[in-house]
Amino acid sequence: MDKAKLRACADRAYRDAAGATTSGLLYLGVRTGLFNTMADKGAMSVEDVVSASELNHRYVQEWLHGMVAAEYLDYDPEANTFELPPEHAYLFASEDTDHYVGGIFHGMPGLLQAAPAVVEAFHHGGGLPYNEFHHEVHESVDLMNRGIYEKRLCEDWLPAVPGLVDKLSAGGTGLDLGCGAGTVTITLAKAFPAGSFSGVDLHPPSIATARAAAQVAGVADQTMFFTDPIETLPSDQRFDLITAFDCVHDLADPAAVLKSVHQRLKPGGTFLVLEIRSGDNLEDNIHPIGAMFYGFSMFHCMTQSLAQGGPGLGSCLGPARTEALMQEAGFTRFEPIKIRGPFNLLYAVGH
Ligand SMILES: C[S@@+](CC[C@H](N)C(=O)[O-])C[C@H]1O[C@@H](n2cnc3c(N)ncnc32)[C@H](O)[C@@H]1O
Repeated sequence: MDKAKLRACADRAYRDAAGATTSGLLYLGVRTGLFNTMADKGAMSVEDVVSASELNHRYVQEWLHGMVAAEYLDYDPEANTFELPPEHAYLFASEDTDHYVGGIFHGMPGLLQAAPAVVEAFHHGGGLPYNEFHHEVHESVDLMNRGIYEKRLCEDWLPAVPGLVDKLSAGGTGLDLGCGAGTVTITLAKAFPAGSFSGVDLHPPSIATARAAAQVAGVADQTMFFTDPIETLPSDQRFDLITAFDCVHDLADPAAVLKSVHQRLKPGGTFLVLEIRSGDNLEDNIHPIGAMFYGFSMFHCMTQSLAQGGPGLGSCLGPARTEALMQEAGFTRFEPIKIRGPFNLLYAVGH
């Protein structure tokens, strides 16, 4: 036996066990507001954190100790104080920005709650349906994506498609497939006041969230949200822009849905597809973000598709399989758009 290999595997196992439990501690920091409490405050005693957060002393103390051990908080042993460094606050106390990572942890316990059902699915097939996940999983999808969409969709992504901004500014129409909490639809409506934008999602609670968010954003008149499958929308209803963000790999019947998208796109229109950043080959995905997405896939994306009798495409679809799906649906234009960030790939697709 190679002792160095054995030790490396043991180290990796302990590191991953620590990662799993630290994910739980990060979840607590996000859900209790402790990261926000500690942001910009410098060094704090346990009592300072307890009084600023109004949370239970013993729980706060144990959380602070765990966060020090996991190296998310700086610790001064002489003063017995704890500090959330500004760089860490930038990532964890920054909801609604494009650099917030707290959303990942908001949904982590709910995601792993799927594990026993996934064990069953290994034996008997099927999976855990989308609507049986804890609501925090659905919320976390929006928390992970919202800041990115609000910041980059209209500033960076749409201008990369020639003519698209002009079309939408002149009263164009858009449809967001798998709209979730409605962020893309609402962001488009706010940026293009002359346009009209629809969102479609099979998950009724998400549609209720989207409708409420459109009211709050003052764009209810410009937006419509449906729970009907896109295949059942009137086929003469056509759009200048159709978006499918973090959605294609989730589809239970990608062929039928993408054919419907093809039919509902106006001639010269754009189908903007945002997918998980992943290489075509497994060996391209051997890194922490790849491992994270295979986990998201197993415990959410793939299993919910298989639960509906779908193909379970999985999160790490990769550009080649994405392009093949688009070609099968009848699209001939497939252009990768270069975007920044570690999580996503973007494609402009057209007839
Ligand atoms: C991972 S979530 C992404 C939500 C949102 N687009 C975002 O990027 O934050 C995928 C969404 O696709 C929806 N979805 C899956 N299959 C669908 C279908 N056939 N038609 C409409 N929505 C679908 C799910 O209900 C879910 O809200």
